[in-house]
Amino acid sequence: EVTRLWGGRFAGGPSEALARLSLSTHFDWRLARHDIAGSRAHARVLHAAGLLTADELAQMLAGLDRLEADVASGEFRPVLEDEDVHTALERGFIERVGPELGGRLRAGRSRNDQIATLVRMYLREQARLVAGGVLDLVAALADQALANIDVAMPGRTHLQHAQPVLLAHHLLAHAWPLVRDVERLRDWDRRADASPYGSGALAGSSLGLDPEAVAADLGFSGSVENSIDGTAARDVVAEFSFVAAMIGVDLSRLAEEVILWSTKEFSFVTLDDAFATGSSIMPQKKNPDIAELARGKSGRLVGDLAGLLTTLKGLPLAYNRDLQEDKEPVFDAVDTLQLLLPAFTGMVATLTFNGARMAELAPQGFSLATDIAEWLVRQRVPFREAHELAGACVRVCEERGIDLPDLSDADLAAISPALTPRVREVLTVPGSLESRSARGGTAPKRVAEQLERLRAAVDAH
Ligand code: ARG
Repeated sequence: EVTRLWGGRFAGGPSEALARLSLSTHFDWRLARHDIAGSRAHARVLHAAGLLTADELAQMLAGLDRLEADVASGEFRPVLEDEDVHTALERGFIERVGPELGGRLRAGRSRNDQIATLVRMYLREQARLVAGGVLDLVAALADQALANIDVAMPGRTHLQHAQPVLLAHHLLAHAWPLVRDVERLRDWDRRADASPYGSGALAGSSLGLDPEAVAADLGFSGSVENSIDGTAARDVVAEFSFVAAMIGVDLSRLAEEVILWSTKEFSFVTLDDAFATGSSIMPQKKNPDIAELARGKSGRLVGDLAGLLTTLKGLPLAYNRDLQEDKEPVFDAVDTLQLLLPAFTGMVATLTFNGARMAELAPQGFSLATDIAEWLVRQRVPFREAHELAGACVRVCEERGIDLPDLSDADLAAISPALTPRVREVLTVPGSLESRSARGGTAPKRVAEQLERLRAAVDAH
């Protein structure tokens, strides 16, 4: 019954409506393991400060071990009266070591510094898992790039045919943002690597407890500089949530292409049966549900970030109960990515590309017109004029319903004497690809190098 962590100044208990509103164990229970780790570290600094005897410390640590085992086995669970994870675990602790010793653990700490620390511990763990999932996807993209290294496709701008590119180049263009997302997570971790434990409610502790010792115990390089900041800041949570949303958006852009590519009209890819779904009424259907769920869930991830930022906006220092609302969105972001990434990676890894179809479309839509213009520039024609001449080639083709390579030598010469038959060198997809050989370009040699650098970037993480 006396599970509440406060009550001395209250004549009665909370109303049921308040208790229900206040309850957070249904989402913060996932932090139980971290809370117990925090309690161990806290017990040690209480001992170091002379507030616990060696024997009391040993009994506390043994009690925390038993509690942790019972939490892990599910034997100890929060009950409705436990306001939050901290309250529940204090009850469990007291049940195991008795009220005398159990009542000593809370000295010098507050749920405010506890929760701020636990969220960081949890997110730092999850960041590593999410990064691993993203790197698996990058590896799948790299494998597909290698498996289809010779396939050309229509590169697009405005969704219109623009210039031919290698499919591998296009796939790697989806991989690099994901590598940067992993770098963002790493970078974020450096800022998350400061423990708020020891900040107390907001002003720090008067009991001679060493925050740096707790920090080291909990895997942080150090403790926060400012106890108000330590308990009230949630930029670390918001930034994590941003990276999660960015990953969602990066997946969504690839998802959109998979959806388009798998249409009858495109016919660029076939989804593996294990990563596609059917229709309950139309027997012929094979739907790209994973890609659609990725696209849909990216909206949810953006919403998690927007909700969190909106909660933080306008909050005065230091702790306010509003801050409890940080956890559900960021936990949702973590859960969403962990559900999504393996399915998405499986889908990408098992895509079958229709290389012949892509190659056939690569030169269509006059996508070699830029090659004519740039060939003319190499023959010393000023680009403004070259652009006009290449445009004239397109106009003639359009009038006659033919494609650029179909122009005869006489057609070319009629447009301009500068357009000698040698221009045909670049009027092929391989010629066009080959010519884009500067660093970062789609020339096969450059793409092969790029693929190696991508693998190296993956291996470096
Ligand atoms: N459950 C709270 C949170 O998630 C921590 C508890 C702080 N409560 C309080 N009354 N100061 O932020």
